Amino acid sequence: MAEGLTPMMQQYQRLRKSIPPDTFLLFRLGDFYELFFEDAKEASSLLNVALTRRNGVPMCGVPYHAAPAYIAKLIKAGRRVAVCDQTSEAQPGKIVSRDITQVITAGTVSELNLLEANKANYLGAVYASDGLFGFAYADLTTGEFRLMQAADHQSLLDALVRVGPAELLVSEEQREQFAALENATSYDSYAFLPDQSSFVLCEHFKTKSLDGFGCADMPAAIGAAGSIVHYLKHQLRRKVNQLKIIRDCERAAGRLSQASGNARDLVSLRVSLEQLPKLRAEIRKLKERVEYGTGAKEAGDPTAATNGAHRKMIDRIHEGIHEMPEVAAKLAGALADEPPLALKEGGIFRDGHNADLDELRSAAREGKNWIGELQEREIAATGIKSLKVRFNSVFGYFIEITKSNLAEVPQHYTRKQTTVGGERFITPELKDIEGKILGAEERSRNLEYQLFQQLRDETLREIQFIQETASAIANLDAITSLAETARLFHYCRPQLDESLRLSIRDGRHPVLDQRLIEEKFVPNDTELDGEKERLAIITGPNMAGKSTYIRQVALIVLMAQMGSFVPATSAQIGLVDRIFTRVGANDDLSRGQSTFMIEMNETANIVNNATARSLVILDEIGRGTSTFDGLSIAWSVAEFLHDTIKARTLFATHYHELTKLAEQRKGICNLNVAVREWNDQIIFLRKIVSGGADKSYGIQVARLAGLPKELLDREILAHMEQPDTSASQTGKPRKKTKSGMPTAEKPQLDLL
Ligand SMILES: Nc1ncnc2c1ncn2[C@@H]1O[C@H](COP(=O)(O)OP(=O)(O)OP(=O)(O)O)[C@@H](O)[C@H]1O
Ligand SMILES: [Mg+2]
Repeated sequence: MAEGLTPMMQQYQRLRKSIPPDTFLLFRLGDFYELFFEDAKEASSLLNVALTRRNGVPMCGVPYHAAPAYIAKLIKAGRRVAVCDQTSEAQPGKIVSRDITQVITAGTVSELNLLEANKANYLGAVYASDGLFGFAYADLTTGEFRLMQAADHQSLLDALVRVGPAELLVSEEQREQFAALENATSYDSYAFLPDQSSFVLCEHFKTKSLDGFGCADMPAAIGAAGSIVHYLKHQLRRKVNQLKIIRDCERAAGRLSQASGNARDLVSLRVSLEQLPKLRAEIRKLKERVEYGTGAKEAGDPTAATNGAHRKMIDRIHEGIHEMPEVAAKLAGALADEPPLALKEGGIFRDGHNADLDELRSAAREGKNWIGELQEREIAATGIKSLKVRFNSVFGYFIEITKSNLAEVPQHYTRKQTTVGGERFITPELKDIEGKILGAEERSRNLEYQLFQQLRDETLREIQFIQETASAIANLDAITSLAETARLFHYCRPQLDESLRLSIRDGRHPVLDQRLIEEKFVPNDTELDGEKERLAIITGPNMAGKSTYIRQVALIVLMAQMGSFVPATSAQIGLVDRIFTRVGANDDLSRGQSTFMIEMNETANIVNNATARSLVILDEIGRGTSTFDGLSIAWSVAEFLHDTIKARTLFATHYHELTKLAEQRKGICNLNVAVREWNDQIIFLRKIVSGGADKSYGIQVARLAGLPKELLDREILAHMEQPDTSASQTGKPRKKTKSGMPTAEKPQLDLL
């Protein structure tokens, strides 16, 4: 196979064989990463770059400085990328050595520009052992690493949905068992075995046992966690030694500790560290205000407990922020303000940081000055005013003389090259000084690289404090954002209690409230007492605001329970244990699930798991099947939630038949979203009022959406023939006109 291939292509083939076939190999050649053979054919179309051929080999390439954006595209296309770099300097007559320096996968992309800054990018793993389900996940950019163990499959699925790993490892042997999981990559079963995993984890955390981590008796979770460390080290060849003015220092520290960081990461760390004293002083002031401030003094004052919790939270953040002035000073003294991205091209350090570096730099500088002087001297000696000393990367330094002056060239000049306009010469003196300049430059670049690694390692000794600080700042960021939103948009402090009540005055949808531009958001009340009014059936026209309303209630409850103020004028919320939602189904054909199947899975999850303390939000049930079947399911789900589970429930539906449930059951009430008919239009009032609706105005809404008139007219007739839509699927055949179009028996042209 290797026969006839150049040594470089042999090198390529050897590396290609060392990685899985579905991984693209980006092979560094000068200023490009090149792809060859099948990789090139496929990547050229994914990346939209030209496919060329050299010696019959298909190839395509991307400039190395733009590689992250191209890698991102390949990852987004669901593929992995192995990056092969040059690991030795080029030497005449020798092939440059190259090696795969990292393999990038969806769960392990750590370069900032590939990530959405506000989203964690988890690599996860699942493992089943002794009837238990283990799940572990890690964010390489921040060093976060967590594991958990669930007793049943559903809890595992819940955790997976919550965390949403970008890539998920499963043991090859358990591939079948977890076939339904998204993003699953099978990996060596051996790496998951709990014994092997414990060993890998102990080695990784430099500990003798996992007792200290509180997970020693969680074999399934340990199996999952161990496989992640194994995968990173062996498969992806990553170093895993962990673990806005204030920049994203969590990610910067993460990249540095994986050895993929550069000098700019250190600078952004420095900038963040420099802000800490000011930030901490502000928090201290806040602490004082909460401790000695007004309010919360009287017994029974409901704000007293909240203030206690606030104080604790502020204390925790204050303690979590470590100032580290020495680290900040060291980085500030060492690093240039805007160092380059590349680590081997110099320019990272300030003058004065290291005496050897200063010496090399001044040697190079002096050499350059000397060359300037040489030019003056030679002009004077030869009398050629246009004589120039120049540099290019092929010949190094040379003296350039134009054609008209060639007669004046002294004897000791050696001719090197003839150009269109003249000739180029060298002298022994010039070559001597060139050697000094270039030597000094190369040595200073190498020294800078070494110094950078040293500085990075010294900084990483403080990694634990840096990470604690970053996480405290992240918490602070989250709560101050909530506080600022609360103040800007007039949120109220919700009252939380153990009742089953849900009482919201003028509730708003936190996102739509700020987004709507053409119309103002209309606030609505909610009143469920958990007893007489426990399940509300919400009907009303399409586009009226049903979905918005039920989601806003869920969001208000969620925000209240996470400790935030809420978009309402007042809110009393009886604690909920979980919020269940079924809103809009997406097809997932690749998982072997149809639209309706997904809808039913979600519904089954709700009826099987909700309790009397849960909040259930249902946005249409049974729409994906025949009207009769759908209505039957919707009806019985509503009954079950009311009679058996007794959960507080908001159920938006176009099955107007469901409004009859309120007559039969005392805990069910009807709400609808008010609209007004005006000429041939509907005016959406966006107000939730009590009572059921009897029309959906679907045809009017279809017209608003731009359906052609012919279609609407045809629909209108069908509609008029069967005013009771619930019977349309099961009822007797429609009468047909000659043209085959259904006829109307009782035309009712209201609203048209
Ligand atoms: N309270 C409100 N104030 C102002 N605008 C609103 C309000 N509620 C909803 N809207 C606007 O109406 C649009 C449609 O609302 P929504 O999706 O909730 O309707 P729907 O009743 O669920 O309709 P469908 O039956 O077709 O699902 C929203 O996107 C929003 O722009
Ligand atoms: Mg809706």
